[in-house]
Amino acid sequence: MTWTDTTAPEHTGTDRNAQANPSRNRQVIDIGTGFPTSPSPWEVAWDIAPDTRVIGVDNDATVLAHARAHAHRVTTVDGDLRDPAAIVARLDGLVDWSEPVALALVAVLHFLTEDDDPAGCLRVFRAKMAPGSRLVISHIARDGTPADVVESVERMYRDKAAPLVFRTARQILDLFDGFTLEDPGLVPVETWRPDPRFTPDLPTIGAPATPLVQGLGAVGVLETRSRHGEPTAPPSLRRVLRAPPGRGGP
Ligand SMILES: C[S@@+](CC[C@H](N)C(=O)[O-])C[C@H]1O[C@@H](n2cnc3c(N)ncnc32)[C@H](O)[C@@H]1O
Repeated sequence: MTWTDTTAPEHTGTDRNAQANPSRNRQVIDIGTGFPTSPSPWEVAWDIAPDTRVIGVDNDATVLAHARAHAHRVTTVDGDLRDPAAIVARLDGLVDWSEPVALALVAVLHFLTEDDDPAGCLRVFRAKMAPGSRLVISHIARDGTPADVVESVERMYRDKAAPLVFRTARQILDLFDGFTLEDPGLVPVETWRPDPRFTPDLPTIGAPATPLVQGLGAVGVLETRSRHGEPTAPPSLRRVLRAPPGRGGP
């Protein structure tokens, strides 16, 4: 079983559940939107607020072709997260930046290496986002994933010349610079406010009880433009950081 088999459903679940929360943001920008699935972020958003504008961004032409074919009300944008200024320029005519947005980066930031400067990329979006905007991140985590699994998965991707970066809980938390985390904070993705309405039907035969690869996720709120200090570290993060190597997390 690959990491995709074991973590993608959980990432997807967090994405959908998190969408239920920031749906007060009537503009959703879903970067690394992926192939259309169900329940999709837009199905969840429209279930809560039918007038929500959803924009899916991806750098894969095949993904975008599928999104265009199957998600007609979703606006699709060709963009690479490593070039945030270009994405913002394409979004300028589509997004009202004076109003809050929900920026979803679900299972995509781990494709950016440190050289790609993920924190810098996020700063470009943060500078455009109005107070009340939300940032949704899920990310494969070093904390809670057995060291030999981290090593073999990273090697597998290296061999395919596609980078994949496991980050620590601390590094993932730091990506929320300027945002205040909503409860329950940064937690294993499958435990972020689980909601049966938005949990995809998962195959049960052969599925592990605990994900082989730990994914962590959180939602942050941008309170003011000038707040660029340390985001709050809720008790859930402290539990993640304390978790022993191997299967960890609350
Ligand atoms: C693991 S999938 C996640 C899909 C979706 N967010 C979900 O959780 O169901 C990662 C997606 O990110 C896209 N992606 C990878 N690197 C990217 C980048 N640098 N810029 C934009 N999209 C990227 C891939 O093409 C793929 O569609």
